[in-house]
Amino acid sequence: MSEATGAYPPGARLGEMLRREGERIMGAMPARLEGERARDVTSLSGLPLKGFYGPDDVADLDYERDLGDPGVYPFTRGIHPTMYRGRLWTMRQFAGFGTAEETNARFHYLLEHGQTGLSVAFDLPTLLGYDSDHPRARGEVGREGVAVDSLADMERLFEGIPLDRVSTSMTINGPAAILMAMYVVVGEKQGVPPERLSGTLQNDILKEYIAQKEFIFPPEPSLKLVVDTIEFATRHMPRWNTVSISGYHIREAGSTAVQELAFTLADGLTYVEACLQRGLDVDSFAPRLSFFFNSHLDFFEEVAKFRAARRMWARFMRERYGARNPRSWTLRFHTQTAGCSLTAQQPEVNVVRVTLQALAAVLGGTQSLHTNALDEALSLPTAEAARLALRTQQVIAEESGVASVADPLGGSYFVEALTHEMERRAMEYIERIEAMGGVIAAIRQGFLQREIAEAAYRYQREVADGERVVVGVNKYVVPPSEEKAVPILRIDPELERKQVARLEQVRRSRDERRVRHALEALREAARREQNVMPALIEAVRAYATLGEMVDTLKAVYGTYAEEAIL
Ligand code: 3HC
Repeated sequence: MSEATGAYPPGARLGEMLRREGERIMGAMPARLEGERARDVTSLSGLPLKGFYGPDDVADLDYERDLGDPGVYPFTRGIHPTMYRGRLWTMRQFAGFGTAEETNARFHYLLEHGQTGLSVAFDLPTLLGYDSDHPRARGEVGREGVAVDSLADMERLFEGIPLDRVSTSMTINGPAAILMAMYVVVGEKQGVPPERLSGTLQNDILKEYIAQKEFIFPPEPSLKLVVDTIEFATRHMPRWNTVSISGYHIREAGSTAVQELAFTLADGLTYVEACLQRGLDVDSFAPRLSFFFNSHLDFFEEVAKFRAARRMWARFMRERYGARNPRSWTLRFHTQTAGCSLTAQQPEVNVVRVTLQALAAVLGGTQSLHTNALDEALSLPTAEAARLALRTQQVIAEESGVASVADPLGGSYFVEALTHEMERRAMEYIERIEAMGGVIAAIRQGFLQREIAEAAYRYQREVADGERVVVGVNKYVVPPSEEKAVPILRIDPELERKQVARLEQVRRSRDERRVRHALEALREAARREQNVMPALIEAVRAYATLGEMVDTLKAVYGTYAEEAIL
């Protein structure tokens, strides 16, 4: 150690100085704060937390059985032996607005600034299966994502982006099979065969009934469409992740971390069971299932949630389903920082929230990450805000050092105890859901929706009562006059007219007879309970529109309206 300089007096005096300083601060500390911090503290999700954790809290922990080295079953510490030293997580910012051109430009902007994977946000009409000129699309075209009406839009969307060299995530659920068919045909047009397409289709329709509500058909035919896409991709798209089983939206709807974990895995098990009933071998499709979680503000709770998720999924796949391929056992996931935690007040503070949430995702071993932009409580992100969000990931990856070692929090008394507690509570939920007859039965009974609604209400009450601090909202508030205005991304309403005109042009220039024939073949395939992917691909090639294909399927499957949950 170097000689202490004048600025740092010799050790003895420094210790004396710190003691006196500590007494001054503690002496000034109001007694209430001491008592206040000592009351029963819980995690954001309500898990009781002790003042500290020690060896007794992990006395039953068996390293081989419960942790394993990184890359070793049950993968609690990560799915790869080298984790980020082998490859950083994919920096995959969710993007999409306006017409295909605007979104294509944002893709190129983010790729130029170091993004390493694409993630497409579609507008609400597309998500719900309406063409841009449908009366229910009015005012929504291109507003919350990119408008896609036909193959023509997808060709523009990926203009100049080589699909054999980039992995694309598509956040689409109700009409997911149609968007996957469009992506296959865009690949064809670029000379890229389906075998070389890599990416992810969200395609998790169950969480739509549970949380996000962007469903089209009833649960049973919707689940059948998911299995159609998995069966098709298992045969023809070996690099394609067929479902992104999502907890993100469940959490955004107000669930606790335990509910997010439990309901997401329960959805995953439902897809596995449905594929087995289709006659697929578990090791043929399980390696390409993927997951998507939220990273919220309770730092250690989130890290424990990710670690518990990997261990639970590995055990289910090997012990319950007898999967033999280790890739079937590994839970690979994307994370998005919690949109619901962003505040419109003092939006610059959101950068701090996103940083903590991103750090939790990285220390939790995520494979892919989206960091929210500071302005996203107000609008879709501006380019500059999206770039700062991306830079946040790059600082964590390149400057913080946390990517150098796999699972650095592993072995912590607290983290291991919390990981165990998350798993224990999530398993209780999964057993309750299975006792009800599974996820679809639990959805139809409103059980999952009610659990989330109650958790959401409890959290909001805690915020309203000031028990749960939201900086800038119920504490450390500044008057509106002191709020610094942030630039807002505004969508030009003219884009809607432009998109509708483009759609009309597609209809005028296509071979109408070929379209009619393709749609009739699609209807027949659906009616016969066949895999509809080949018929969808042919309809896409004929430039049938998204709305026409959805309406054809609605004629066979019907639609769904949720019962009110009392
Ligand atoms: N050692 C060895 N190999 C490694 C490695 C290591 N340390 N790290 C990575 N690799 C390999 C992987 O095994 C993989 O190889 P493979 O292609 O042969 O499998 C390759 O490197 C790429 O790694 P990943 O597959 O882990 O990374 P990807 O980014 O390609 O995939 C994913 C990640 C989670 C599996 C994938 O499903 C994905 O990208 N999901 C993203 C989903 C998404 O973006 N969703 C957005 C939703 S937004 C939304 O819903 C709306 C909301 O905002 C409201």
